[in-house]
Amino acid sequence: MADNAGINRAVNTIRTELEYLRDSGVVSEPQFNSILSQLPQPGGVPSQYVDVRYQGQPFPASAISQAAQDPNHPANPKHPKHGEWAKKLGSKLGNAAIFGAGATAALVTGAAGTGIGAATAMAFARAGCRRIAITDMNAKELNDTRAAILAQSPNAKVLVRPGDIASEAFVESFIAAVVKEFGRLDYAVNCAGIMGNNQSSTETSLDDFDRINNVNYRGCWLSSRAELRAMLEQEPLPSHDPQRGPQRGSIVNIASQLGLVGRPNAPAYTVSSTPAAYSASKAAVIAMTRADAIDYSDKAIRVNCICPGVIDTPMTTCDEDRIEMLAPAVQIAPMKRMGRPSEVADCALFLASSQASFVQGHALVVDGGYVIN
Ligand SMILES: NC(=O)c1ccc[n+]([C@@H]2O[C@H](COP(=O)([O-])OP(=O)(O)OC[C@H]3O[C@@H](n4cnc5c(N)ncnc54)[C@H](O)[C@@H]3O)[C@@H](O)[C@H]2O)c1
Repeated sequence: MADNAGINRAVNTIRTELEYLRDSGVVSEPQFNSILSQLPQPGGVPSQYVDVRYQGQPFPASAISQAAQDPNHPANPKHPKHGEWAKKLGSKLGNAAIFGAGATAALVTGAAGTGIGAATAMAFARAGCRRIAITDMNAKELNDTRAAILAQSPNAKVLVRPGDIASEAFVESFIAAVVKEFGRLDYAVNCAGIMGNNQSSTETSLDDFDRINNVNYRGCWLSSRAELRAMLEQEPLPSHDPQRGPQRGSIVNIASQLGLVGRPNAPAYTVSSTPAAYSASKAAVIAMTRADAIDYSDKAIRVNCICPGVIDTPMTTCDEDRIEMLAPAVQIAPMKRMGRPSEVADCALFLASSQASFVQGHALVVDGGYVIN
C-alpha cells in the first residue's frame, strides 16, 4: 500500500535539496529539471522505492559534501579553481548560502507584535530564508508580522498558525503543518514567553507558579520536543562551508539572564524581590537546552539558548509603571540601556545557522553586561 506521508516527505526533501544545489551552482538547470522530472507523484509508489540518482550516486544526502570529495569538482578544496568557486558561491548567495538559498525552513514561536520573536522572524527573511513559520497566541499581531515579512521579502512563504504554546495538541499540529507545508524544519527559535509576577516564593500562589512555568518551560519543552522529532525525520543539509559537516537542524531557545543570576532588590521585572518562579522557568530552559544538545549531537542537531538582559519589547515597555520599575535593572548593565529586539534576533540567527557549527549547548548572554556587573 502506498505510504503517502512518506512519499510526500521524501519528495519534499529531495525538492528542497535540489533547489539548494541548483541555486548554489552544483547542479545545472537541465540537471535540476531532469532530476525533478524523476520524482514520483504523491500516492504513486511507497517511499522505500524512491530512488533518484545524481551522477550515478544515490541522491541527495549531502551532494555538496559529496562533490567536495571529487578531485575534479571545484567544490573539492584541493581543486585549483576551488577558491574561485567558493567565492562565486559566497558572492552569488551571500547570507542565502548560510540559510540554504531558499531551501531551508525556519520557525519562530512568540512571533507576534514587536518583540524578540517578531524581530527574529524578520531577520530570517532578511538573511534569505524563504520558508518561515510563525506562531503566537495573539492572532492579530501575528498577521502583522506576516505582512511585515512579506513587505520585505515578497517571495517568502509564510505559514501563520495562532495558538497556545502550552497546549500539546496545538504544538503537535503546528509542527505537523510546518513539515507538511515546507517539507522540513531547519531552524527553530522558541521565543514565546510571559513575564514573571512581582513576588518572592512565599508570596507566589500555585496558580501563578503554574501559569509562568506552563508557558516559559513547558511550552518551550513541548515546542523543542516536537521540533526535534521533526528534524530527526529529515536528511541533513550541507553547510555553507563544504569543509564542515552537514546540519540536520538547529534549535535556539530563548531563556533569560535571570535563569543565570538572581538579584534581590533591583532585578528585572520586580522592585522588591527576585521573581523566583520566572527565574526558575528560565533556568529550566537552560538546563533542557544542555541536555538536548548532548542527546542529539550525534544526529547533527544543535541546540543552544540565549539569555537576554532587559530588552525593549512590549513585555518591558508596555506602560510607564513598568519602564520605571525596570529602570534600576537597566542601570545594572554597564551599557546602561535596554537592548533592541534585533540585537537578540541577530544572535539567534547566528546560533541557528551553520556559521555556529561548533557551538553546542551554549547559553549566550545578550545583556549589555548585566550578569558580569
Ligand atoms: N524583553 C526582555 O527584557 C526579556 C528578557 C529576558 C528574556 N526574555 C524572553 O524573551 C522572549 C520574548 O519576549 P519579548 O520580550 O519579545 O516579549 P513579547 O511579549 O513581545 O513577546 C512574547 C510573545 O509570546 C507570546 N505568548 C505568550 N504566551 C504565549 C502562549 N501561551 N502561547 C503562544 N504565544 C504566547 C505573546 O503573545 C508575545 O507575542 C520571552 O520568552 C521572554 O521571557 C525577554
